[in-house]
Amino acid sequence: MSIHYEIISDDNIICIKDLCNELMAYQKSKAHIHPEWFDNMCFETRMIPSVKSAKANFIIIAKDDNEIVGYAYSNICPKETYSGGFATLEPVNFFDFDSVKSDDIGCLSQFYIKKGYRQTGIGTVLFEKSMDWLNSFKSISDLFIFVSNGNSNALKFYQGKGFKISHQILDGFITVLRNT
Ligand SMILES: CC(C)(COP(=O)(O)OP(=O)(O)OC[C@H]1O[C@@H](n2cnc3c(N)ncnc32)[C@H](O)[C@@H]1OP(=O)(O)O)[C@@H](O)C(=O)NCCC(=O)NCCS
Repeated sequence: MSIHYEIISDDNIICIKDLCNELMAYQKSKAHIHPEWFDNMCFETRMIPSVKSAKANFIIIAKDDNEIVGYAYSNICPKETYSGGFATLEPVNFFDFDSVKSDDIGCLSQFYIKKGYRQTGIGTVLFEKSMDWLNSFKSISDLFIFVSNGNSNALKFYQGKGFKISHQILDGFITVLRNT
Protein backbone atom coordinates (compact mmCIF):
# COMPACT_ATOMS: atom_id res chain seq x y z
CA MET A 1 0.00 0.00 0.00
CA SER A 2 1.38 3.39 -0.96
CA ILE A 3 -1.04 6.01 0.29
CA HIS A 4 -0.80 9.67 -0.59
CA TYR A 5 -3.18 12.57 -0.14
CA GLU A 6 -4.41 15.21 -2.57
CA ILE A 7 -6.69 18.21 -2.20
CA ILE A 8 -9.04 18.42 -5.15
CA SER A 9 -10.76 21.51 -6.52
CA ASP A 10 -14.54 21.97 -6.59
CA ASP A 11 -14.38 21.47 -10.38
CA ASN A 12 -12.96 17.97 -10.00
CA ILE A 13 -15.46 16.41 -7.61
CA ILE A 14 -16.67 13.99 -10.28
CA CYS A 15 -13.68 11.78 -9.39
CA ILE A 16 -15.31 10.89 -6.06
CA LYS A 17 -18.76 10.16 -7.49
CA ASP A 18 -18.47 6.39 -6.97
CA LEU A 19 -17.15 6.68 -3.41
CA CYS A 20 -19.89 9.20 -2.53
CA ASN A 21 -22.51 6.75 -3.77
CA GLU A 22 -20.82 3.95 -1.80
CA LEU A 23 -21.07 6.13 1.33
CA MET A 24 -24.83 6.59 0.80
CA ALA A 25 -25.29 2.81 0.34
CA TYR A 26 -23.17 2.15 3.45
CA GLN A 27 -25.24 4.55 5.55
CA LYS A 28 -28.46 2.97 4.29
CA SER A 29 -27.17 -0.49 5.19
CA LYS A 30 -26.50 0.64 8.77
CA ALA A 31 -29.71 2.61 9.30
CA HIS A 32 -32.74 1.23 11.14
CA ILE A 33 -34.66 4.54 11.28
CA HIS A 34 -35.97 5.58 7.84
CA PRO A 35 -33.36 3.75 5.73
CA GLU A 36 -35.57 4.53 2.74
CA TRP A 37 -34.61 8.21 3.06
CA PHE A 38 -31.29 7.28 1.53
CA ASP A 39 -32.97 6.10 -1.66
CA ASN A 40 -32.77 9.48 -3.35
CA MET A 41 -29.44 10.46 -1.81
CA CYS A 42 -26.58 10.21 -4.27
CA PHE A 43 -23.68 12.19 -5.69
CA GLU A 44 -26.01 14.31 -7.85
CA THR A 45 -28.49 15.11 -5.04
CA ARG A 46 -26.05 15.47 -2.12
CA MET A 47 -22.56 16.36 -3.24
CA ILE A 48 -23.11 18.67 -6.23
CA PRO A 49 -25.77 20.94 -4.62
CA SER A 50 -23.77 21.09 -1.39
CA VAL A 51 -20.51 22.09 -3.10
CA LYS A 52 -22.37 24.71 -5.18
CA SER A 53 -24.18 26.31 -2.25
CA ALA A 54 -21.37 26.33 0.34
CA LYS A 55 -19.26 29.44 0.95
CA ALA A 56 -16.09 27.35 0.91
CA ASN A 57 -15.30 23.68 0.31
CA PHE A 58 -12.41 21.40 1.21
CA ILE A 59 -12.22 18.02 -0.49
CA ILE A 60 -9.28 15.78 0.25
CA ILE A 61 -8.72 12.32 -1.19
CA ALA A 62 -6.51 9.39 -0.26
CA LYS A 63 -4.97 7.47 -3.16
CA ASP A 64 -3.31 4.05 -3.28
CA ASP A 65 -1.18 4.52 -6.40
CA ASN A 66 -3.81 5.80 -8.84
CA GLU A 67 -6.90 4.44 -7.10
CA ILE A 68 -8.93 6.78 -4.89
CA VAL A 69 -9.59 4.84 -1.69
CA GLY A 70 -11.11 7.51 0.54
CA TYR A 71 -12.20 11.10 0.83
CA ALA A 72 -13.34 13.72 3.30
CA TYR A 73 -15.52 16.66 2.33
CA SER A 74 -15.85 19.68 4.62
CA ASN A 75 -17.52 23.02 4.07
CA ILE A 76 -18.40 26.40 5.50
CA CYS A 77 -22.06 27.41 5.28
CA PRO A 78 -24.41 29.98 6.84
CA LYS A 79 -26.09 28.34 9.83
CA GLU A 80 -29.51 28.94 8.23
CA THR A 81 -28.55 26.33 5.63
CA TYR A 82 -29.26 23.78 8.36
CA SER A 83 -32.98 24.37 8.53
CA GLY A 84 -35.09 22.06 6.50
CA GLY A 85 -37.35 19.10 6.20
CA PHE A 86 -36.98 15.50 5.22
CA ALA A 87 -39.66 13.42 3.62
CA THR A 88 -42.93 13.93 5.47
CA LEU A 89 -41.51 15.56 8.61
CA GLU A 90 -41.98 19.24 9.48
CA PRO A 91 -38.97 21.46 8.78
CA VAL A 92 -36.54 21.43 11.70
CA ASN A 93 -33.45 23.39 12.70
CA PHE A 94 -30.56 20.93 12.82
CA PHE A 95 -29.28 22.73 15.95
CA ASP A 96 -30.15 25.70 18.14
CA PHE A 97 -29.05 28.68 16.04
CA ASP A 98 -28.75 30.82 19.20
CA SER A 99 -26.05 28.47 20.49
CA VAL A 100 -23.79 29.52 17.60
CA LYS A 101 -22.27 32.99 17.86
CA SER A 102 -21.08 33.42 14.27
CA ASP A 103 -23.23 33.53 11.13
CA ASP A 104 -21.39 30.60 9.58
CA ILE A 105 -20.53 27.12 10.76
CA GLY A 106 -18.02 24.49 9.68
CA CYS A 107 -19.07 20.95 8.91
CA LEU A 108 -17.34 17.68 8.14
CA SER A 109 -20.02 16.71 5.68
CA GLN A 110 -18.94 13.45 4.03
CA PHE A 111 -16.28 10.98 5.02
CA TYR A 112 -15.60 7.58 3.51
CA ILE A 113 -12.76 5.10 3.39
CA LYS A 114 -13.13 2.06 1.16
CA LYS A 115 -13.50 -1.33 2.84
CA GLY A 116 -10.07 -2.95 3.13
CA TYR A 117 -8.43 0.42 3.80
CA ARG A 118 -10.21 1.17 7.09
CA GLN A 119 -8.49 0.92 10.47
CA THR A 120 -5.08 1.68 8.99
CA GLY A 121 -4.89 5.36 9.95
CA ILE A 122 -6.05 6.87 6.63
CA GLY A 123 -9.24 8.25 8.22
CA THR A 124 -7.24 9.91 10.98
CA VAL A 125 -5.03 11.69 8.43
CA LEU A 126 -8.03 12.88 6.38
CA PHE A 127 -9.86 13.93 9.56
CA GLU A 128 -6.90 15.94 10.89
CA LYS A 129 -6.27 17.70 7.57
CA SER A 130 -10.00 18.55 7.39
CA MET A 131 -9.96 19.94 10.94
CA ASP A 132 -6.87 22.02 10.11
CA TRP A 133 -8.78 23.57 7.21
CA LEU A 134 -11.96 24.14 9.25
CA ASN A 135 -9.98 25.65 12.12
CA SER A 136 -8.19 28.04 9.76
CA PHE A 137 -11.40 30.13 9.64
CA LYS A 138 -10.64 32.15 12.74
CA SER A 139 -14.09 33.71 13.02
CA ILE A 140 -15.81 30.28 13.03
CA SER A 141 -15.58 28.28 16.21
CA ASP A 142 -18.57 25.95 15.86
CA LEU A 143 -17.95 22.70 14.00
CA PHE A 144 -20.59 20.06 13.36
CA ILE A 145 -20.76 16.47 12.16
CA PHE A 146 -24.10 14.83 11.34
CA VAL A 147 -24.09 11.04 11.69
CA SER A 148 -26.94 8.91 10.42
CA ASN A 149 -28.50 6.34 12.73
CA GLY A 150 -26.91 2.93 13.13
CA ASN A 151 -23.39 4.11 12.34
CA SER A 152 -21.92 3.48 15.77
CA ASN A 153 -18.38 3.01 14.41
CA ALA A 154 -18.37 6.54 13.02
CA LEU A 155 -19.79 7.93 16.28
CA LYS A 156 -17.02 6.20 18.22
CA PHE A 157 -14.38 7.48 15.78
CA TYR A 158 -15.54 11.12 16.09
CA GLN A 159 -15.87 10.92 19.87
CA GLY A 160 -12.31 9.58 20.00
CA LYS A 161 -11.27 12.73 18.13
CA GLY A 162 -12.93 15.02 20.68
CA PHE A 163 -16.38 15.63 19.19
CA LYS A 164 -19.33 15.31 21.55
CA ILE A 165 -22.86 14.06 20.98
CA SER A 166 -25.21 17.05 21.19
CA HIS A 167 -28.68 15.76 20.31
CA GLN A 168 -30.73 13.84 17.77
CA ILE A 169 -32.99 15.20 15.06
CA LEU A 170 -35.50 13.93 12.51
CA ASP A 171 -36.95 11.14 14.66
CA GLY A 172 -33.44 9.94 15.53
CA PHE A 173 -32.42 9.67 11.87
CA ILE A 174 -29.40 11.90 12.59
CA THR A 175 -27.17 12.33 15.64
CA VAL A 176 -25.62 15.80 15.83
CA LEU A 177 -22.01 16.03 17.04
CA ARG A 178 -20.29 19.28 18.00
CA ASN A 179 -16.75 20.32 18.83
CA THR A 180 -17.89 22.34 21.86
C1 LIG B 1 -15.25 6.18 9.91
C2 LIG B 1 -14.06 6.08 8.95
C3 LIG B 1 -14.07 7.26 7.99
C4 LIG B 1 -12.76 6.10 9.78
O1 LIG B 1 -11.67 5.95 8.91
P1 LIG B 1 -10.50 4.88 9.19
O2 LIG B 1 -9.50 5.02 8.11
O3 LIG B 1 -11.09 3.55 9.43
O4 LIG B 1 -9.91 5.52 10.53
P2 LIG B 1 -8.53 5.17 11.26
O5 LIG B 1 -7.91 3.94 10.69
O6 LIG B 1 -7.68 6.38 11.27
O7 LIG B 1 -9.05 4.93 12.72
C5 LIG B 1 -10.07 3.96 12.97
C6 LIG B 1 -9.70 3.13 14.16
O8 LIG B 1 -8.60 2.29 13.81
C7 LIG B 1 -7.54 2.48 14.72
N1 LIG B 1 -6.30 2.40 13.95
C8 LIG B 1 -5.65 3.41 13.34
N2 LIG B 1 -4.55 2.96 12.72
C9 LIG B 1 -4.52 1.64 12.93
C10 LIG B 1 -3.65 0.61 12.52
N3 LIG B 1 -2.56 0.86 11.78
N4 LIG B 1 -3.97 -0.65 12.88
C11 LIG B 1 -5.06 -0.92 13.61
N5 LIG B 1 -5.95 0.02 14.02
C12 LIG B 1 -5.66 1.27 13.69
C13 LIG B 1 -7.74 3.82 15.31
O9 LIG B 1 -7.21 3.89 16.61
C14 LIG B 1 -9.24 3.99 15.30
O10 LIG B 1 -9.82 3.49 16.46
P3 LIG B 1 -11.08 4.25 17.14
O11 LIG B 1 -12.19 4.31 16.11
O12 LIG B 1 -11.37 3.42 18.32
O13 LIG B 1 -10.56 5.62 17.45
C15 LIG B 1 -14.08 4.76 8.15
O14 LIG B 1 -14.11 3.67 9.03
C16 LIG B 1 -15.21 4.65 7.16
O15 LIG B 1 -15.09 5.12 6.02
N6 LIG B 1 -16.30 3.99 7.55
C17 LIG B 1 -17.41 3.78 6.65
C18 LIG B 1 -18.10 5.07 6.23
C19 LIG B 1 -18.53 5.93 7.39
O16 LIG B 1 -19.02 5.47 8.41
N7 LIG B 1 -18.31 7.23 7.23
C20 LIG B 1 -18.68 8.23 8.24
C21 LIG B 1 -20.00 8.82 7.92
S1 LIG B 1 -20.52 9.98 9.17
